[in-house]
Amino acid sequence: MKKLLSLLLAAMLTAGFSSAQADTLTVHPDQALHEVSPTLYGIFLEDINCAVDGGLYAELIKNRSFENENLWNPQHADHWEAWRVSKWNQAKLTLENAEPLNEKNPTYLHIALEEGGWATVSNQGFGGNLLRGGVPIQAGETYDLTLYIRFSEEAARNDSAVTVCLSDAAGNALSNEAVFQWGENPLETWMNPDKSWWRYQAVLTATENAGALLKLQIAGQGAIDVDMVSLMPGDRIGKEWPGGGMRKDLVEALRELHPKFLRFPGGCVVEGTYVRSDAYNWKDSVSIGDAADRREIPNTWGGMLTMGVGFYEYFCLCEEIGALPVPVVHAGLLCQARDVKDPPLTMAEMQEYAQDILDLIEFATGGENTEWGLLRAWMGHPEPFDLRYIAIGNENWGAAYFSRYEVLAKAVKEKFPDITCIVSAGPVAEGGLIQDSWNNIRRRFPNDLVDEHYYMDSGWFPAHVNRYDKYPRTTKVFLGEYAAHEPVQGNRRPNNLYAALCEAAYLTGIERNSDVVVMSCYAPLLSREGEVDWTPDLIWFNDSTVYKTPSYYVQQMFTQACGTELIASETDGDLFQAVTRTETEVQVKAVNLSDQPVPLTVIVSGAENQTVRGQMLTGEKNHVNSFARPDKIVPTEIVCECADEKTAIELPPFSLVILRYSF
Ligand code: AHR
Repeated sequence: MKKLLSLLLAAMLTAGFSSAQADTLTVHPDQALHEVSPTLYGIFLEDINCAVDGGLYAELIKNRSFENENLWNPQHADHWEAWRVSKWNQAKLTLENAEPLNEKNPTYLHIALEEGGWATVSNQGFGGNLLRGGVPIQAGETYDLTLYIRFSEEAARNDSAVTVCLSDAAGNALSNEAVFQWGENPLETWMNPDKSWWRYQAVLTATENAGALLKLQIAGQGAIDVDMVSLMPGDRIGKEWPGGGMRKDLVEALRELHPKFLRFPGGCVVEGTYVRSDAYNWKDSVSIGDAADRREIPNTWGGMLTMGVGFYEYFCLCEEIGALPVPVVHAGLLCQARDVKDPPLTMAEMQEYAQDILDLIEFATGGENTEWGLLRAWMGHPEPFDLRYIAIGNENWGAAYFSRYEVLAKAVKEKFPDITCIVSAGPVAEGGLIQDSWNNIRRRFPNDLVDEHYYMDSGWFPAHVNRYDKYPRTTKVFLGEYAAHEPVQGNRRPNNLYAALCEAAYLTGIERNSDVVVMSCYAPLLSREGEVDWTPDLIWFNDSTVYKTPSYYVQQMFTQACGTELIASETDGDLFQAVTRTETEVQVKAVNLSDQPVPLTVIVSGAENQTVRGQMLTGEKNHVNSFARPDKIVPTEIVCECADEKTAIELPPFSLVILRYSF
């Protein structure tokens, strides 16, 4: 069907047009204007909308550690969240924290069994509710189960057991059962200095497609403690990463964007909630062995950050998808846009904090002869990661920020002169705040990369396509967060075609200014249906399905057709356009934001007669993709003929067209 559409489109395109006067787009491949930044298009991954925990992270068990304690978000402050004790006899189940698995992971499930006692406790996963269960399983697929158990002497003596399987809400098994008893095949773990807690593993094979519960049946006599109950699909990416790995379909969706860099882990997430103790400390996110030795923190967007995807896994993800890592650390301040409870770090405290950032860079790049480089090697990556950037601060501004940035950036530059520091210009596109930021930055940090963020109405983007024409050419900008916002419908801003095309129009301006704007990324990246903190988002998913938005396709089309040099071009019409080239190809991008078709003659001087291939994204202005209709707005392949340097093409209303000429 897709092929047929493409052929039809090709026929239309080559037929030319008889009536309306065509616009002209003239391209001069021999007039290179400047290099296009090789890092122009990347992605920004933050755990908002359950993007990571409950999303990209392969963990299927919610609150696996019983640590849920987000006091700013009452439904996630419950250590029992997602767990249900359904039946018991001669048994008492409590949550305890005396002599825990380790001090970062203090809470665990304690089951005290009297003679002949038993109990059943289940986890609903991220996708369900306590009545129907929401651990997504597929018949025939395998799931890797791990958990920590401590059997008391009495429990061990009485052959007490923890039996685990997947089940339906009535308790009927939907997989094989795994039985764990004291001393039987535990895994080695150093989380066991006193030989009390042991780590066990098993593989469960599902017998049905279902939203299941993970059911633990505990039986025997004596005390049994359980913690870090983890279940991950056997088919996942990064099984060897200590955190456990990532969901394959979502990693593929990121890979298919061909991002040149990945900014992580936030956004607001790096500054935490309202108190200092909730701020993201990268050292809490790394551990050898598994994620049990990482400290969870409340997520500013709700729920908890399990840290199963920590800095090591983010670096690994970058390698996996071919993107350069751009880690973000807070600048010693909590979020400046909220009524936070704790003051910034004092200037004296900043020195110590600077060391944390230096340690992070050493973790990423140091040899095995360094403390933190050795940790990376132990975690499984003896080779350094390709770290070239560090962003210090997210959406910060003003004197309190710049004085702290100065301390941190100075420390980085002294010890790691090859690392580029990224300084924040604040959270807005226009006005006194960003002007003040730029004044500070130009005066004090003229060589640093400047992180601009703005979320604006769709119409703002085409109206400001020339924003960077006026920037001094020595300035280097990282457009670290942006998106075109449509008016709210219901409770969401839709990801419709029009917003995506406004972004596309703007990106032609970014490409034409890619000597100044050297990096850019849309935000936010991922959203789990039913867990929405923020719209619009680039990619939507539920337990089993992923769909991509028109904005996703715009990003993908621009990234794939991004040349190495900007070349001179001009148009006599209202189209938005930019043209780049590589040694062997010229890429023409044009956006029609009007509700009328635009006949266009593209004149590429020096082009040989040839069949020109390309892509088009078009449809109804308000159309969106959805789980039901994921392909409503997708790029189609197009072909047209170039004869005597001219190509005739009609841009439909609301369309993006990319043409690629061989050279
Ligand atoms: O992208 C969502 C949020 O928007 C980010 O966390 C923050 O940096 C910005 O305000």
